[in-house]
Amino acid sequence: MNIILVGPPGAGKGTQSKILEERYGARQIATGDMLRAEVASGSPIGLEAKAVMEAGKLVSDDILVRMLRERLARPDCAGGVILDGFPRTLPQAEALEALFKETGRHLDAVIVLELDGDALVERIAGRFACAECGAGYHRLFRPTRVKGVCDKCGSTKFVHRPDDSPDVVRRRLAAYNEQTSPILPFYEARGLVRKVNGMAPMATVAASIEEALRRSGVQARQIAV
Ligand code: AP5
Repeated sequence: MNIILVGPPGAGKGTQSKILEERYGARQIATGDMLRAEVASGSPIGLEAKAVMEAGKLVSDDILVRMLRERLARPDCAGGVILDGFPRTLPQAEALEALFKETGRHLDAVIVLELDGDALVERIAGRFACAECGAGYHRLFRPTRVKGVCDKCGSTKFVHRPDDSPDVVRRRLAAYNEQTSPILPFYEARGLVRKVNGMAPMATVAASIEEALRRSGVQARQIAV
């Protein structure tokens, strides 16, 4: 299965990608996570991306297309991919189409998570992650089981993303509306777009995506019980 998850900042792309990885055996490729890793390592890409990301703008298409080409060539992507955060511009969508053609990959669906602005603000304002293992949480919607302790690794240190401040979120939302929304007609023209209500609880959104994928001819894995 090869799919794209599209949605504004805080829509739940990362959350749903993790669920889809389990259900479909495909690999999540989150370009935001890849860029944050470059920033943390102080690489030349990271140095260039840091200021752009902190300003809520989009990193250049050249860098992203190069990163994605390299990532897709790795063996763990052979069983399919869930693209989370790519493409984000029309040139990226065109480059992806050419890359898939060149490598014989087939795009099954483009899942669009639809939400209103107030929900996005609430999602982002409550988001935090473990400073050690990166596990993601939400103050209201996905708290840690024990207050102040990471469920996965037991760390007591947590972080907020530097680009989650209200003014940067406004700019990220503007970038989505101005630069990313125009990719939807590109995929609508190819009959690939499946719209899903992203306002519902996480499990309901996951079930809606599964139903949308079924309509696109993609079946989830059978889980042995
Ligand atoms: P990126 O990291 O991709 O950020 P984003 O698209 O803004 O998305 P987020 O990660 O903020 O949100 P999400 O949709 O994954 O939501 P989540 O699941 O965390 O990109 C960051 C930056 O990198 C960009 O601004 C840009 O600068 C650069 N970049 C990345 N890709 C690029 C590209 N292709 N081209 C150029 N630049 C690029 O959910 C949010 C919160 O809500 C969580 O706390 C979660 O627990 C909670 N939640 C999720 N679902 C639900 C639900 N159904 N109900 C209640 N709570 C929920």
